[in-house]
Amino acid sequence: MAVSFATFERLKSKGVASYKDGDYRAAKAYLVDAAECMIELAESAKSTDAQRQHEEIAAELISLAKECDARKDGPKAARGRQREREDEGGGDASDWIVKDKPTVGFDDIAGLEDVKEEIRLMMIYPFAHPELAAKYGISTGGGILLYGPPGTGKTMLAKAIAHEIDATFFVISPAQLLSKWVGEAEQNVRKLFDAAKSEERSVIFIDEVDALVPRRKSDSSAVMQRVVPQILQELEGFDRKSDRALLFVGATNRPWLLDEAMLRPGRLDSKVYIGLPDPPARYRLLEIHFGHRPLDNDVDFGELCDRLEGYSGADIRNVAEQASQVPFLEAVAGKADRSITMKDIVTVIEANRPSVHASDLVRFEQFRQTGK
Ligand SMILES: Nc1ncnc2c1ncn2[C@@H]1O[C@H](COP(=O)(O)OP(=O)(O)OP(=O)(O)O)[C@@H](O)[C@H]1O
Ligand SMILES: [Mg+2]
Repeated sequence: MAVSFATFERLKSKGVASYKDGDYRAAKAYLVDAAECMIELAESAKSTDAQRQHEEIAAELISLAKECDARKDGPKAARGRQREREDEGGGDASDWIVKDKPTVGFDDIAGLEDVKEEIRLMMIYPFAHPELAAKYGISTGGGILLYGPPGTGKTMLAKAIAHEIDATFFVISPAQLLSKWVGEAEQNVRKLFDAAKSEERSVIFIDEVDALVPRRKSDSSAVMQRVVPQILQELEGFDRKSDRALLFVGATNRPWLLDEAMLRPGRLDSKVYIGLPDPPARYRLLEIHFGHRPLDNDVDFGELCDRLEGYSGADIRNVAEQASQVPFLEAVAGKADRSITMKDIVTVIEANRPSVHASDLVRFEQFRQTGK
C-alpha cells in the first residue's frame, strides 16, 4: 500500500493534538500509525539521507508514543477518544509473528554457487546427516550474515535456506520492531523465540539488520536500548547440538554500520558476501526471468550476458519485465501478438543503467578485507 506525506501529516497532527488534550490512549494509536507511515516512506526514500531523516522522525514518534503509556488519561480524554486498537497491549503472538514456509529453493537462485555450498555445509548437511554430524562433532546451524549490494538475492537466499531444510521461517523486520512491538517489545521477542524453538526446525531472519543499530547514541529509542540486547542474548542462548534446530540469518547492504556486538560468536558470526552475478549467473538469471515468456529467435542470451555486466539480479528481472511490456502493450492496442525481440531487450538495457555503482563495490571490498 502506498502511503503519502499527507496521510502521515494527518496522523501526526491528530496524535499531537490528542497528546495535548491529555488523551494519551488515542495519541499513542495515532503516533504509532504515523510512525509506521514514516517507516514506509523511509523504505521508498530516494536517497539514504532522506531515508535516515525519515527513520529519525519515526523513532521520535515512537518515543513520544512510549511516553503516552506512562501518562494517565486526562479529563478531556473521553471526548477525543474515537479509536480503540485491538492490538494494544501486545495481543496474541500469532497476530504479529510472520511465520512462513517459503517455496523458493536454491535452484531458483542464479549463481552464488560457493555461497550455497558454504550454507549447505553450515546449515544443511548437519541436519540431513545427524549421525555423521554427531560422530565428527560438527555443530548444526548458527548465525550467518548475508551482506552485499541491493538486489543481489539476499532476502531470497534467506527464504531458500529455510526451504532447503524444510524449516519454518520467522521474520523480524526492524521496522516492525519499531512500530508494532511498541508496548510489550520484550514479551514479544520472547514469544517469537519461544514459537521458533517449539518448531522442529526454524530460521529466524532479520532483514535489514543494520536498522537495529542506532546511528547515534541519542537516536536510540527506549525500545531499541532494551530489545536489541535481548535479541542478541536470545540468539546466543539456543543449544546448537540439540535435535531442534534454530538458525538465524541476517541481511544488510550496509554491513559497516553493524555493531561489533551483533557479529560476536554465537550471533551473526559467519559473514558471507553476496555480490553481483558473474556471467554464468547472468545467463541463468536470463533463463529464470525470460524462460516463461515468448522470445524471438534473434534473442541471444550470450550477447545479453555481456551487455548486462554490472547489473544485479533485481536489475535483470526489471529488464525482463520492461522488455515484455513492449509487445504486450502493442497487443493490447490491437496489433498482432508477437515475441519479444533482441531489440526490445537491448533498448531497455540501454535506458536502464545498473543500480549498483562501482564506488559501492569498492566499499564492500574494503569491508571484506578489513571487516569495517
Ligand atoms: N541471484 C538471483 N537469482 C534469481 N533472482 C534474483 C537473484 N538476485 C536477485 N533476484 C531477483 O531480484 C529480486 C530482489 O532480490 P532480493 O530482494 O533477494 O535482493 P536483496 O539482495 O535482498 O536486496 P536488498 O539489499 O535491496 O534488500 C528477487 O525477488 C529476484 O526476482
Ligand atoms: Mg533484501
